Amino acid sequence: AASIFPVVRNLRFVCIIVILIAGLILQVSDENELTVDMAKVGLTQVPKDLPPRTEVLDISQNYISELQLSDISSLSGLKVLRLSHNRIQRLDFSVFKFNQDLEYLDLSHNQLQKISCYPIVGVKHLDLSFNDFDALPICTEFSNLTQLNFLGLSATKFQPLDLLPIAHLHLNCILLDLGGYYVKENESESLQILNTKSLHFVFHPESLFSVQVNISVNTLGCLQLTNIKLNDKNCQVFIKFLLELTRVPTLLNFTLKHIETTWKCLVRVFQFLWPKPVEYLNIYNLTIVESIKQEYFTYSETTLKALKIEHIKNQVFIYSQTALYTVFSEMNIMMLTISDTNFIHMLCPRAPSTFKFLNFTQNVFTDSVFQNCSTLVQLETLILQKNGLKNLYKVSLMTKNMSSLELLDVSWNSLESHRLEENCTWVESIVVLNLSSNTLTNLVFRCLPPKVKVLDLHNNRIMNIPKDVTHLEALQELNVAFNSLAHLPGCVSQPSADFFQSCQKIKSIKAGSNPFQCTCELRDFIQHLGQLPSEVVEGWPDAYKCDYPESYKGTPLKDFHVSPLSCNTGLLIVTIGAIVLVLAGTVTFLCLYLDLPWYLRMVCQWAQTRHRTRNVPLEELQRTLQFHAFISYSEHDSAWVKNELVPCLEKEDIQICLHERNFVPGKSIVENIINCIEKSYKSIFVLSPNFVQSEWCHYELYFAHHNLFHEGSSNLILILLEPIPPNSIPSKYHKLRALMTQRTYLEWPVEKSKRGLFWANIRAAFNMNLTLEIQIKKQPST
Ligand SMILES: *[C@@H]1O[C@H](CO)[C@@H](O)[C@H](O)[C@H]1NC(C)=O
Repeated sequence: AASIFPVVRNLRFVCIIVILIAGLILQVSDENELTVDMAKVGLTQVPKDLPPRTEVLDISQNYISELQLSDISSLSGLKVLRLSHNRIQRLDFSVFKFNQDLEYLDLSHNQLQKISCYPIVGVKHLDLSFNDFDALPICTEFSNLTQLNFLGLSATKFQPLDLLPIAHLHLNCILLDLGGYYVKENESESLQILNTKSLHFVFHPESLFSVQVNISVNTLGCLQLTNIKLNDKNCQVFIKFLLELTRVPTLLNFTLKHIETTWKCLVRVFQFLWPKPVEYLNIYNLTIVESIKQEYFTYSETTLKALKIEHIKNQVFIYSQTALYTVFSEMNIMMLTISDTNFIHMLCPRAPSTFKFLNFTQNVFTDSVFQNCSTLVQLETLILQKNGLKNLYKVSLMTKNMSSLELLDVSWNSLESHRLEENCTWVESIVVLNLSSNTLTNLVFRCLPPKVKVLDLHNNRIMNIPKDVTHLEALQELNVAFNSLAHLPGCVSQPSADFFQSCQKIKSIKAGSNPFQCTCELRDFIQHLGQLPSEVVEGWPDAYKCDYPESYKGTPLKDFHVSPLSCNTGLLIVTIGAIVLVLAGTVTFLCLYLDLPWYLRMVCQWAQTRHRTRNVPLEELQRTLQFHAFISYSEHDSAWVKNELVPCLEKEDIQICLHERNFVPGKSIVENIINCIEKSYKSIFVLSPNFVQSEWCHYELYFAHHNLFHEGSSNLILILLEPIPPNSIPSKYHKLRALMTQRTYLEWPVEKSKRGLFWANIRAAFNMNLTLEIQIKKQPST
């Protein structure tokens, strides 16, 4: 093992080095790829101090009028040169002599009239469109541009074989700007375009369409025409222009962009295209002018599959809606998209229709659309996004006869569900229903297609998901994000109980961005989450945050922790019960074994006494001292006290307070004891096993020890009359125990000989404070 470790370490070292070198190479190549962006900075000529390693140079939208060899000859690595929107009038292509890597050259939107030819062999994208060329700027040298992919051109005059030099190239796209075209008298022009996949014509944006060049194509997949202005008069010119172009059977895609036309001409264009091979017809930015009247349209057999019209501006204000809508509704095609218009309606086709896909996004359709319509029998997808639909019940009614409908998108409408009086009548075939971004509430769950698999209800006003979801047996995906849900749906939050019954087929649920109440219920959910397949709850955990309680606002649900105690009532009750029991036990123990009530009573008494005497000055208090000593003893020891101790002390002129002798009638025993102790300078305790047994003695000891002047044990004189076995003192009399262990007591000797010393000790204890004694002697005794 010892020999393996250095190898491992070395391997790691090598790996790090390799990664470092790779990073370095990447950085270097990044630095090599040099882009200089000087677009729109007001240049009048190409800057002189460009880095020689420049690969991408953007100097478009400036005022450059000339491009010379010296400008770019040093940029040998130049790949991309953008020079559009400048003022270049002449260009000699030999200036690119030293730019062997040039692939992309954009010279569009200049004022080029002439170019001098030179083959720039590697170029793939060459844009010469939107210039002032008269004839097409095609050099014979262009025949060598075998890499050419895109070619942008502009011209006003055409010869049939203008494009012959490039006839053998396989281009992807030719852009032909015909903005400067004008009609020539006595001359019919034509142009042959041989090989390109897509062809894009741009006409003059302001003038009426007038191009009369007869353009023929060999193979063409895509045709796009931009800027077309038509009226009833020049409509025929346009259709004639299209005649040759649309003849090729390969043309499947046809796009018109920025087209302004009369309704009559538009219908004629449709009619013209109907029998053509075009399959996809797209119209973007359509403006209808003059008038809309009923036009007859023959829906002959067509290969057209899809018509898409996006953004229609209608400049006709009074017209027959029926005339407009009928042309579309009767179309014998599969797919129709009409979006971003002010159309308020669409008609139900008169006969069983071929439509499979209808997209009417962003119009102003109302609930009346397709009501009682039973001819859309093949319709599979209906998109009514961003319209003015309001009544969910009516939407369900609309689908009633659409027996093939699988996907219905009515998102971004104003659909409400709080006025659902009747039962909804959805067609059963609906599998995907998009009801997102409406104002639906919980009641929506009463009105759903029974076999829906994917249900999008995000961004509505749902506050909770009722158990009714159970009837949606096929539901697989549910999106209820961005609602007002305080809780997760039952089948998710309590999967163990409900999951297999209520949403057994659910594969995914999206419920993020709701104002969740982080409560105990949610805690259960978080715990159960582990039992679900991880992809079931989409967007977990980031989109799921607490909204309530305030202290948890914004906390991700996954980080929401609450103690088991606050969630489980049973546990809470048990805990409180246990605490109460322990407390009760403790109190009982204290009362029984440590005599707590006794101590409380004593403390009370003592505190009261103390309170009474608090404001009495010391001298006053001292004046109340009437005795030298108070004697506490057990009744059983009274013989010794009366026969031995008292006579002996009184012989020495020591005045004694005996509670039975100096008893003040009308006061309680405790008060009498306190009274006696307070009026005495010292307290004598006669200790014996009898004393230990007497409760009163303990009281007296307790009070004496807490005497007002002589706090502590200095005022106590303990006489041990008979030995007390240490274990015989009950633990509650800890005061006595403590004094006993300190051994500060005087033992009554059994032998008579020792008794002299004993009395001497007693006397000594009284001789210490003479001044006080004098004071005491002066006072009259009671
Ligand atoms: C529902 O429509 C919204 C847009 O309106 C879209 O973002 C969402 O993906 C659609 N839902 C489904 C399930 O297709």
